[in-house]
Amino acid sequence: MNDRSEAVITSTIAFTLNGESVVSHSPPIARLADVLRDEFRLTGTKIGCNAGDCGACTVLLDGHQVCSCCIALGQTASRTVVTVEGLGRAGALSALQRAFHRHMGAQCGICTPGMLMAAADLLARCPRPVEMEIQDALAGVLCRCTGYRKIVEAVRDVANDLALPQSPALGTALGARALKVDGVAKLTGAEQFGADAIPADALWLSVVRSPHAHAAFTLGDLAALHAAHPGLVRVLTARDVPSNGFGIYPAIKDQPVLADGVVHFRGEAVVALVGQRAAIEAIRDDEVPICYEPRTPLSTLEQALAADAPRVLPDRPGNVLIEGRVRKGDPAPVFVQCAAVAVGRFETAFVEHAYIEPEAGWAVRNNKRLQLHVTTQTPYMDRDEMAVVMKLEPTQIRIVPTACGGGFGGKLDMSVQPLIGLAAWLLDRPVACVYTRPESMMATTKRHPARIDVRFGADANGRLQAVESFATFNTGAYASWGPTVANRVPVHASGPYAVPHVHSWGKAILTHNMPAGAFRGFGVPQAAIAHEAMLDELAQMLELDRLEIRRRNAINVGDATATGQVLHASCGLTACLDAMAPHWNRLLNEVAAFNATATILRRGVGIGCMWYGIGNTAMSNPSEMRVGISRTGRLTLYNGCADIGQGTNTTMLQVCADAVGLPMAAFDYVTGDTDRTLDAGKSSASRQAFVSGNASARAGHDLRRHLLALAGAGDAAMLSLDGATLVVADVGRTTRIDLSQLEPINVEGDVHSGYGRFDPPTTPLDAQGQGVPYATYAFAAQIAVVEVDVELGTTKVLQVIAAHDVGRALNPQQVEGQIHGGIAQGLGMALMEEYIPGQTDNLHDYLIPTIGDVPPIEVILIEDREPLGPGGAKGVGEPALIPTPPAILSAIRHATGVRIEQVPVTPPRLRALLRACSA
Ligand code: FES
Ligand code: FES
Repeated sequence: MNDRSEAVITSTIAFTLNGESVVSHSPPIARLADVLRDEFRLTGTKIGCNAGDCGACTVLLDGHQVCSCCIALGQTASRTVVTVEGLGRAGALSALQRAFHRHMGAQCGICTPGMLMAAADLLARCPRPVEMEIQDALAGVLCRCTGYRKIVEAVRDVANDLALPQSPALGTALGARALKVDGVAKLTGAEQFGADAIPADALWLSVVRSPHAHAAFTLGDLAALHAAHPGLVRVLTARDVPSNGFGIYPAIKDQPVLADGVVHFRGEAVVALVGQRAAIEAIRDDEVPICYEPRTPLSTLEQALAADAPRVLPDRPGNVLIEGRVRKGDPAPVFVQCAAVAVGRFETAFVEHAYIEPEAGWAVRNNKRLQLHVTTQTPYMDRDEMAVVMKLEPTQIRIVPTACGGGFGGKLDMSVQPLIGLAAWLLDRPVACVYTRPESMMATTKRHPARIDVRFGADANGRLQAVESFATFNTGAYASWGPTVANRVPVHASGPYAVPHVHSWGKAILTHNMPAGAFRGFGVPQAAIAHEAMLDELAQMLELDRLEIRRRNAINVGDATATGQVLHASCGLTACLDAMAPHWNRLLNEVAAFNATATILRRGVGIGCMWYGIGNTAMSNPSEMRVGISRTGRLTLYNGCADIGQGTNTTMLQVCADAVGLPMAAFDYVTGDTDRTLDAGKSSASRQAFVSGNASARAGHDLRRHLLALAGAGDAAMLSLDGATLVVADVGRTTRIDLSQLEPINVEGDVHSGYGRFDPPTTPLDAQGQGVPYATYAFAAQIAVVEVDVELGTTKVLQVIAAHDVGRALNPQQVEGQIHGGIAQGLGMALMEEYIPGQTDNLHDYLIPTIGDVPPIEVILIEDREPLGPGGAKGVGEPALIPTPPAILSAIRHATGVRIEQVPVTPPRLRALLRACSA
């Protein structure tokens, strides 16, 4: 029990909790969610917002779902409460949990307890619900990962109560629909996220943040604050930070841990309060003596680029953080020879990641080492960043990732890490911090708003001849991933098409906003909106079918990209389009028939294509893996990939098991702990399947070589385990090796281990942006069907068909889940998501798709195998989202005739466009 629940005891409340009679000593006004988590240590109930918006805290109260963050403890007196921990019986999963497991209804798992409880409420009333009933019952629980489709499938399937499938047989793991190896923990509430395992003796840290987008400030005397709050142990300021700058790039450490006299965005950290939890939570911001002198902020691109604009950061003239450029051929003179030239300017908004788990973690000092348990996408980068901030050696820092409740790029940047690390180091006490939802939204990175000017020219057959694309990104106050976006977008700006003449650039512009960073696509989704609108425009000008014009231009093996890279294999866009063609023609006919009699409701069919370079742009980004076998005959994959819900805990095992030649069920795994795993790089840029997958395979092959050598066996020998005995069956002889008799070779207790490393072959881009920025590319085409209410301006997506060339699906069930989730996020970006600093810092003003917004999705997997990939795999995380917004916009245009140049297409925006169109 922590100090908060030990606060004043005012009464006792008796109720039934998961079938047991319990008595709570917390105040009757305490939130039930807090009581469950803090007093009863039932941390399966999650807190995503504390405001009734996300549903992560859903439990059953007398059998009915409630948000436990909105229920006072006193309301539970003499009633029954059931949490996710009460769903199964005697350690066995319930039928509902098994159905979720079978269908992979959990990705990161942070929403899963809430989903399960909402579904349990429904199923008790309605054992065989139809989709509409499921949507109604689960509408209050948000999921940012799954796109909800697997959850609907799971709930519909509960009544069938099927057994769980067996673990894949020997040699069949890669490519199998293997269950998530961490699935049971996510389904029972046992999984521990950043806020779930905070030590009872931890001090708490909260951050006082700037209410101004730009201001100078001074700190007053803190004595009165300490006197008023005896539980306040320390106030950390910029002067306490050994090296007060962090950032993604080794040479750009421009973001202070704590602001030093000037703040550059609303929500920037000014001071950190550390102390007893109750004391810290009682301190109001206006009690802290900070005197601000507000200055005029540069909020927009126009303001930041004005000739007389002051500099956001002193070393960035013109407020240009960086510019990336690609030039192939010479487009300008080619346009005059084109049969059709389309032009446009497209604008996008800040988009919030809205992972359901806010940033959280705790740190502890162990003599000369600092250990952080945090939710993160990038353990080794956190380690190295912490070493810079603390002026320690990287080996003095240990990052132990907790389960990560969604990231999507937003947990690549440090958040709580430097603050809790610094406090724990200085105070030599465990220190914890859990961001509130508004804090998470105001202080962390967003998708870059973009302004993209494009010109696409084609010949009379619709073949692209020339492309220009000039993209300006609002990158906020600090660099974060701005350089990555500015460099990746010019490479992708002409789309997945063969174009002889291309000129594109991307600029990241500093403004007084929270930093824009990495978000599923690094600017490519914004660019795809522009290039796909141009393809539609050219199709209309040349009276070509929209799918056909894409097919004519699709890049294929032997073609050169805009950077001059000739593609040698795994170029599946044409196959995606061919797979789409029958659906396309059918849907066009269906929509035409509907519109023939419709008036207010108009339907449309749209298409969007994409390509995406796997891994970092034009730079080394290796992964390393290690696998060991112990004296007991168990294998352990020491897996440095942060599993943020995408499933690398499972897929890396699948790859490694087949490489070793032993069944997946013989393996355990360690995830991300920097003391126990090697550096597998970041879980970003859709790189883990390809890069870390290769490293896993190589580690497995290496261990296999060692084991075969033990028996003097040849490559084709079969391995098996009989308890602690390794059995090696070679042609004509079988060797039995008693592993328990071998000496451990490392602290983990392994008696043999294998090592693998893979770094994708790329080359730096030259001054014209020419080179090989990526070793391989993913391709996709998606079709969206929409229904637009032309009076209200509302758009409902009715169906999505998604064809993705993933090279090889390491786990088709997981790939489908990634595609569903990406489509849901793309739908949000197209239709509803716009983060406005100071106005949408919560999940009731900032809308993300709910279960009722995501339509049926048909996934078509194209497996055009990549020779360099593990089993042929490439990646799918970001590609899943990129084609969705352009497909939806294309469909709206088809339905209404309106070309959309700004997202999100909210009802007021669409109404205005429709009025202008009909005027
Ligand atoms: S935490 Fe209760 S609804 Fe979000
Ligand atoms: S699985 Fe639902 S939020 Fe991650």
